[in-house]
Amino acid sequence: MERAGAGSSARPLVSDARPLDGRRALVTGAATGIGRATAVRLASEGASVSVNYIGDRAPADAVVAEIEERGSTAVAVEADVAVEADVQRLLRESAAALGGAVDLLVNNAGVESSYPLEEMPLDEWERVLSVNLTGPFLCTREMVRGLGDSPAAVVMVSSVHETIPWPSFSHYCASKGGLKLFAQTIARELAPRGVRVALVAPGAILTPINRALMKDPAKLREQEEQIPLGRLGTPEEIAGAIAWLAGPGAEYVVGSTLFVDGGMTLYPRFV
Ligand code: BGC
Repeated sequence: MERAGAGSSARPLVSDARPLDGRRALVTGAATGIGRATAVRLASEGASVSVNYIGDRAPADAVVAEIEERGSTAVAVEADVAVEADVQRLLRESAAALGGAVDLLVNNAGVESSYPLEEMPLDEWERVLSVNLTGPFLCTREMVRGLGDSPAAVVMVSSVHETIPWPSFSHYCASKGGLKLFAQTIARELAPRGVRVALVAPGAILTPINRALMKDPAKLREQEEQIPLGRLGTPEEIAGAIAWLAGPGAEYVVGSTLFVDGGMTLYPRFV
């Protein structure tokens, strides 16, 4: 690496510092998909990472192992983001394991299912709203409560469906539209105290949530036609956007949504 000469008082020409050195990150739903790629990416940029998961522990342990192999610190913490006591414990255990309060929160955990309105069960409506909207509320509130005066960043993983209506996914669209305005509102509340809130809106990404789509060539082709770039995105492409939004390069970005969707929101079928 090129450096200023030894003994010189000049600053190094190239610094070894990484953008997220010293940051303590929590990624919800980090055992698979976008969450997994984000946990690994944040760690590769210097953050220590709490890998939240629910259910099977093995995939979360694998993420922790991958991060540790690269020389960073990570811990797996099980918690249901929709349950207040779980979230309070999640923030406590993350802070204890990472050596201080979480100052980089990625609200990624999310669920979806398909029901036309007249068939939508109330408990399914409530499950999707609880995980996708109440979860980010609880996690962000608890993070901010633990912060004191320290600066921090929060990145919400929204969706193109914070703006595109999606038939049979009214609960999902309501959760993501709600997440957008929730994030913008708290972005105003929190910016004066040095907490930045922003959103990433992925389009169709190659993750477990799209497993059925990936196995159905006709549906996949139909989906690809909705994307000017002609392909689904990768979790790593979303993780890169999240890391940038959370880092020093985005210090002046407050309350914005960064769409990472291959152009899906550009009305590809409109003549
Ligand atoms: C959903 C995916 C969907 C994509 C584009 C995402 O928010 O999770 O299932 O393919 O939006 O419609």
